[in-house]
Formats: sequence, structure tokens, C-alpha cells
Amino acid sequence: MKSSIIRFFLALILMTFISRTKAQEYDTIWLSSLDIKKASTGWGILGKDVSCMGKPITLNGITYKHGFGTHANSILYLSLKGGSERFSATVGIDDEEKLTTGSVIFSIYGEGSLLWRSRVLKSGGPSEKFDINVSRIDTLILLAEGAGDGINYDHADWANAYFLSKKPAPITISRPSEPAIILTPKAADTPKINGPKIYGTRPGHDFLYKIPATGVRPMSFEASGLPQGLKLDPLTGIISGKVAKAGTYEVNFTAVNSLGKAQRKFSIVAGDKIALTPPLGWNSWNCFACAIDQDKVKSAADAMLKSGLADHGWSYINIDDCWMIQSNSKDSVVGGDTRNSKGNMNVNKKFPDVKALTDYVHRQGLKIGIYSGPGPRTCAGYEGCYKHEEQDALQFARWGFDYLKYDWCAYEEIAKDHSLPELQKPYIIMNKALQNSGRDIVFSLCQYGMGDVWKWGEEVGGNCWRTTGDITDNWSSMEGIGFGQAGLEKYAGPGHWNDPDMLVVGMVGWGPKLHQTQLTPNEQYTHISLWSMLASPLLIGCDMTQMDEFTFNLLSNDEVLDINQDPLGQQASRTVQLGDLEIWTKPLEDGSIAVGLFNRGLFSSRIVAKWLDLGLEGSYMVRDVWRQKDLGVYDSRYETTLPSHGCCLLKITRK
Ligand code: GAL
Repeated sequence: MKSSIIRFFLALILMTFISRTKAQEYDTIWLSSLDIKKASTGWGILGKDVSCMGKPITLNGITYKHGFGTHANSILYLSLKGGSERFSATVGIDDEEKLTTGSVIFSIYGEGSLLWRSRVLKSGGPSEKFDINVSRIDTLILLAEGAGDGINYDHADWANAYFLSKKPAPITISRPSEPAIILTPKAADTPKINGPKIYGTRPGHDFLYKIPATGVRPMSFEASGLPQGLKLDPLTGIISGKVAKAGTYEVNFTAVNSLGKAQRKFSIVAGDKIALTPPLGWNSWNCFACAIDQDKVKSAADAMLKSGLADHGWSYINIDDCWMIQSNSKDSVVGGDTRNSKGNMNVNKKFPDVKALTDYVHRQGLKIGIYSGPGPRTCAGYEGCYKHEEQDALQFARWGFDYLKYDWCAYEEIAKDHSLPELQKPYIIMNKALQNSGRDIVFSLCQYGMGDVWKWGEEVGGNCWRTTGDITDNWSSMEGIGFGQAGLEKYAGPGHWNDPDMLVVGMVGWGPKLHQTQLTPNEQYTHISLWSMLASPLLIGCDMTQMDEFTFNLLSNDEVLDINQDPLGQQASRTVQLGDLEIWTKPLEDGSIAVGLFNRGLFSSRIVAKWLDLGLEGSYMVRDVWRQKDLGVYDSRYETTLPSHGCCLLKITRK
């Protein structure tokens, strides 16, 4: 009896000792003490013990000393290698957004499975605490995502986040890299004519179109059925002149080289509409921003030709902000008198000769665009068109510009409010001025979607209108904007397009320092596929002089571009939405349908496109558009596996 009591006490002492040493084995490791720079975030900074705005982490009135401040959509990968026992934190939207409409869902994945997910946490609402076992986990993923209403105000805090850990300690890791697989087949040496099949012009206005064709040079061109007033240069394929009379002209293009001959039909519609297909071109903002100058614009035109992009139908070279005089600037390069004695806009010293520049671009068969805004100043503080609209439109026309991006910005100081008449007024004024300028100038409205611009953009003369704020080169920005276009399809059509902003593939950076886009290869395929399905203007945002093979592959797939340029001009609609999986469809002029299968999720997933769900019945030939290959005839469905954030673009044709 005595000995069993002694044994019992001995065992108790031993157990206490063991559990003490076990507890002592674990260290508390704050998440914010790790290299959190490996995370990605939707906006603001990656906050080490502060919010994404750099303020103390505060949830429901409690301020936390430790924590990781992010903004949806944000993602962080960690490697634990079984060294950590528990992970805990309190999550929610930081009190700095208490009075707004943010909503976030926090999720934690381990080895590809969901370990924990929060409720939808809202601005000013309760936070949520968790404490989970991670002892068997190697790869841990922390995710904070917008809860289905975009990512505005989603300041997502991982407050008091720590691991109970022994060796090895947790470390943050980069997102697993993906191979940049090239899907677009190389263009053949034999001639092939690409680009839009329909083109609008106004009678009596300057006309310029270079027949886009791939194949070895030298190549010669013919065009039968050209309207009176136009002539073709058979050596360059450049058509110029002025169409004398209104009407629809069915033209036949022929391109010939030593290996063969190609033909393509092309309709010229001379009437009151231009931009009958979405504009295809380049814009200086996403790469150079205010570090733009005349030589860079020239080099962009050269690169569009030399890379071969022009042979696939790309044609606009658009200058964005920062070409004029910056108001009140002391800088001798961009400062000075904003206008000359006649009231005409002056340009800054980085643009020594605008007319020589537009002539240079036009000589090569390309078009050129310019940027301004209805306010006294542009977004970057340069001279705007306020009270000089007519004069400036005439100046743009004299210089020979073919495209005007007209950015609201400092008009905010002029507009009395955001009522419809106030939102529309400056665009009505500039449209009238452009119509009277005697030149075909594509009118691009940039006011970030205010007042549901898609409902009235066409009415005020817009050929396209930005539907959102600025895009940046990360997944949350691109997917938030792209997939957020669902429902806007009824407002787009030939001559008037929704514009979800410019492309962020290749070397971007908002100048002067550039970097490779942060989108993964799959995300880039999703970007180009989705924008093509959306019949969006496609404006390349990278430095084309530094374009790598992968980026060229993204921008030179004629079958993808044909979907964007389809003459029917129908923007795709979201037909199926199943969690992270979406199917979008776009009817095409030839009766076939472009089908985009998308996976917005973190892990690869099987997707099934059932004809019934797409409103179809019977057998369809399914073609893989990126690979330009028929996959066979399918009777009721097509299924495949999509990588994380990846897509598959199909064209299906009734058999
Ligand atoms: C923004 C616009 C951008 C770019 C910039 C120039 O308002 O959305 O695309 O043009 O101004 O300052």
C-alpha cells in the first residue's frame, strides 16, 4: 500500500516534470517577427506590428502590440516542417476602417486542405479568435480575401498572431513558382492576314490602316474593292487617304510572299462610328508613368513593328499623362508657361517636336494617342483642357492624334457634385469638340466608373470608358477588376466598349524603374483570356523594347485576339459560377461560342462545362484557342483540370 502511494507520487512528479519540459520546449514566435515581405497584399504596406496603413493594429477598441497588417486579397506561405504545435491569432478588419463597408474572410490552409475559416468579418463588426493545431503541417497558407463585394476598405489584421514552436522554427516562403509555358504556336513563314475584320471611319476624314500579316518578308499586298479615296501601298500594306462617300465596302486583302498567298475579307464602314472593334495598342502609363519622353514613344512604335506585334493587329501607340507643362513647377524640364500667347497648350521639354513624332508613327502605318482631362490639371498635375476644350481638340487633331484618353481627376474641383449631369458635362463638351475637329479620334472616358458610366458612356460620345480604378500587377487587383465586369455586357458593343483598364503583363513599373509583372504565368493567361472575352480595349502596359518570349506569346495569339476583335462585339457573360470556378461565354459572329473556364482558387481543380448549363444542346467541336488545336467532338460536356488562378480558353462550334 505504502509503496503504491510512493509510486503514485513518483509518477505524478515525473509527469509534471515531463509536461513542464514539454511546455518549455516551445517558444512563442510572433508571425510579424518572420520575413513577412514574402506575402502579397491588395493595397498599402505589409504591416509588421502595424496595419496596412502603418497604424497600430486595433480591433474592436483593443490595440495589439503584435500582429500582421494586410489588405485583402493577401496571401502568405509558410514552411513549418512539423516544428510548430499551435498557431493562434485574433482576426478582423482594423478599426481604422470602422465606419466603412469592408468585409473579409480569413482562411488557413495546411497541405492543401482548409484548416480554419472565419465568418465574414465586417468593418466595425466583431473580430474572431482561433487557436489551431499545426503539428502535422509543412506548408501553411494564410489568406485574407474580400468577401465577394470587392476589396475596398478590407484592412485585414492578423492580430496577436503567434506560433508555439520548437525547432525548426517556422519560416515564410515564396509562392511556389510556375513554369512559363509558351502555348501560342509560332507564326508560319507563309503569309497569313490577321487583325480586325471590320473597321469604321468617317467619310472625308484621314484614314490609315496597315494590313497586319505574318510570314516572311518581302511580302506584297493587294486590296480589291477599296472605296474611292483610299490607296494601298503594295510594298508596306499601308492603306491611306479619305473615304469619299458613306457606305459599307467589302474589301478583299491579299498578301503574297515567296512561299505562298493569303486572303482575308475586310469591311470598311464609312459612317458616323469608329472603333467598331476594341482598340488594340500600347499605353505609356503602366510602364513609364511620368518618366515618359518622346524617344520612348518612338521606341515603342519601333518595338511594336520589330517584335512583330503590329503583324497581329496591334496599332495604337498612346501617350498617357506628363507630356504637357506641369502647373507651378520649378523644374526646367517640365515647368514653364502652360499655354502660348494664343492659348494653345505647350508641351514640356521631353517632347521637343510632337508633330514630328505623330508623323513618325503614322509613316509606319501605326496610330498615335494622347491624354488629357477636363480639369484645370491632370492627375499628375499637368495642364488640362478646362475652358480650352475646343481649342485643344483642334490642336490634338492638327498634331494628328487618333485617340484621346480624357481623365476626370482635377475636374473634381470644378464639378458641383457627382450628379449625372455634372458627371456627363465635361465629356459632352469634349465629344462635341472632337466631332468638330475633322479627325477620327477614339474618345476614351476615364473617370473610374463613376455614376455607372457604362449606362451613359455611349450617349456622351465615348468609344470606351474605364469601369474601375487603376489596375496594378497583382492577382487581387487584376482578378477583382476582371471578374467584376460580370453584368456589364449589355452596355458594350461595336463603337462603345467597357474598359477594365490596361494590361499588366511583361515589364511594368510606373517608371522610371521597371520590374517583371508580379502575376504568375497562369494569372497572365487568365488576364489576357478574360480581357479578350470581355471585348475590352487591349492596351499593352509594358516596355515593348524589353519584351520576352513569354509576353510576346501572350500578345500574339491570333485566335485569342480574334475573340477580342470579333465583329459581333458581344462582351462575354458569366454563365456558371461554382465557388472558385467560373465559366464565361461569348457568342461569336460565325455562330460559334468562345468559352472561358477559370479557376480563381488557390489549388488546381477539375471543372466541367456542361452544355446544358451553357444553354446548349447537341454535339460541339471543341477547340483549344491558346494551342490552336481541335480537341474533338463532345456531346454534352467538356471537362478538364485547371491550375490555381489558371484558365482554359475554348471555341466551340455546333457539329
Ligand atoms: C489616372 C488614370 C491612369 C493614368 C493616371 C495618369 O487617373 O486612371 O490610368 O492615366 O491617371 O496620371
